[in-house]
Amino acid sequence: MLLSGRGSNFQAIAEARLPIEIVAVISNRPQAAGLDYARARDLPAFAFDHTEHPDREAFDALLAEEVERHRPDLVLLAGYMRILSPAFITRFEGRLMNIHPSLLPMFPGLNTHERALAEGVKIHGCTVHFVTANLDHGPIVIQAAVPVRADDTPGALSARVLAQEHCIYPQAVRWFAEGRLEINHGRVNLRGDSTSQSVLSTGM
Ligand code: GAR
Repeated sequence: MLLSGRGSNFQAIAEARLPIEIVAVISNRPQAAGLDYARARDLPAFAFDHTEHPDREAFDALLAEEVERHRPDLVLLAGYMRILSPAFITRFEGRLMNIHPSLLPMFPGLNTHERALAEGVKIHGCTVHFVTANLDHGPIVIQAAVPVRADDTPGALSARVLAQEHCIYPQAVRWFAEGRLEINHGRVNLRGDSTSQSVLSTGM
């Protein structure tokens, strides 16, 4: 688990009674609240401060070594707010997942809720995807959509989306743990899915 801050997605996964063991929680920011939560649950927590390693490639190489040391089957980005180098992504390709607060491919990058409001979209949401070298791009595992209301603020919209993040990320991890995710030509097939369970829409 790689994170940079609050760690609410990490908490949702940790509390979802999934058939997984969280082998390490690593933050590039030593003060991340997610690390405190990990320590409170006796999960192995590590601060790996990027400001001590100004060179991104060098930092990511060390980070990759640290991640490998814990022998994870899956590496989760849960609010990890640093662009990863192509070498890191290639090393973990197919076992590197991210959650992003928009319906990708719309609104990659930052400030997704502000941008959704500025565009006047009527539907917004979140996406769990496998990570590729393109920022916030890659085979989509599951998405959840929420309505955008006329009087929405970025904060209100963000809270509505975050509640859905906490549903879909644990679900995606469960599917991975059950061996149900198959990447084929850049798309994710969910084995045994005849009902398109990989779309959630709430309050529409
Ligand atoms: C979440 O909204 C997540 O989707 C977003 O950061 C937040 C982290 O919250 N991630 C990105 O924007 C990645 N591009 P959390 O620390 O409470 O899980």
